[in-house]
Amino acid sequence: MGEMSEGIRIDMLRLIFSLPEQLLKGYQMGKEASFLSRRRFENVAIIGMGGSAIGGDIVRTIILQESSLPILVWRDYQIPPIINNKTLGFFVSYSGNTEETLCAYKEAKKRGSEVVAITSGGILAQEADKDGFLTIEVPKGMPPRSAIGFLTMPILGVLNKLRLSRSYEEDVVEASKILSKKMEVWRRRAVNISQRLYNMLPFVYSTSRLLDVVAYRWRCQLNENAKVLCHTGELPEQRHNEIMGFGAPDFVTRRIILIALVDQMTHPRNLFGMKLMLSLIKEDLGGTIWIKSEGVSPLSRIFSTIVVGDLVSVALAKRRKVDPVSIPRIDKLKEALR
Ligand code: F6R
Repeated sequence: MGEMSEGIRIDMLRLIFSLPEQLLKGYQMGKEASFLSRRRFENVAIIGMGGSAIGGDIVRTIILQESSLPILVWRDYQIPPIINNKTLGFFVSYSGNTEETLCAYKEAKKRGSEVVAITSGGILAQEADKDGFLTIEVPKGMPPRSAIGFLTMPILGVLNKLRLSRSYEEDVVEASKILSKKMEVWRRRAVNISQRLYNMLPFVYSTSRLLDVVAYRWRCQLNENAKVLCHTGELPEQRHNEIMGFGAPDFVTRRIILIALVDQMTHPRNLFGMKLMLSLIKEDLGGTIWIKSEGVSPLSRIFSTIVVGDLVSVALAKRRKVDPVSIPRIDKLKEALR
């Protein structure tokens, strides 16, 4: 159990276990949205911050695998010129009060973009309602990062409804089934992994572009839930540069655990390159952990590896005796900015 800043008691583990259901419900929420726009869109932008933005990365990764729809994920106050009156913009903020997202919303509205707001309420819900845009309301009372299914899947549902993408119905069902079936096994594995990560510095490396978003999610979850630093890298890129940095500064030598995320589509040369790299840096590493994605659809492969990371972050929080729910520095910073 942990506590949100509003004093709400939350069981983070239970919320992770609710993901299979979130995926199904979230997709339906998108499919059932009363979206009336008949405009032709030239691109799609997904705008948000932190736990509300990562769903955008997931959607972009999936769409990139199979379609030529230009899709952009944006995390800042100012928006680039590509977001204009030919843009379908998803503005995602769980609280509805994140200032970067609200500022970007105002500018996109001014430029004539079509907007879909995904939020549990706050200013974003009020503004979008007032401006006559579609709002998809997600359930209240959760830490945003634990609502990842609700914040991601409606986007895929709406894109399909507007015929900007294929149907993801089967993929969602597959992902949800795998997650339900494997959750307990992964939880136990996560406890073991957390033991190895204790007092070490995790480096999460993705070995295919499908898993870049997963590495980033591991990092954010380790930051926010376990309250530890984490670094991410991508292969093959990192073997052209970062490989030279292992071993310094002295105090990280042998303190790094390299977590390698592997997918069925990982290029064989990337796998081979990873093994070669490991043999070259082994004196400087504290250990390696291999995580393999599961399922057939990109959605399953992404979420199966995300969930393991989510579970590891909660297990590590427990081991470190920190509350996985509260995020006092983030809250303080937002309060000071307000
Ligand atoms: C909190 C979390 C944060 C928030 C971010 C943006 O669980 O993950 O990264 O998501 O501060 O806030 P929202 O999501 O309310 O727009």
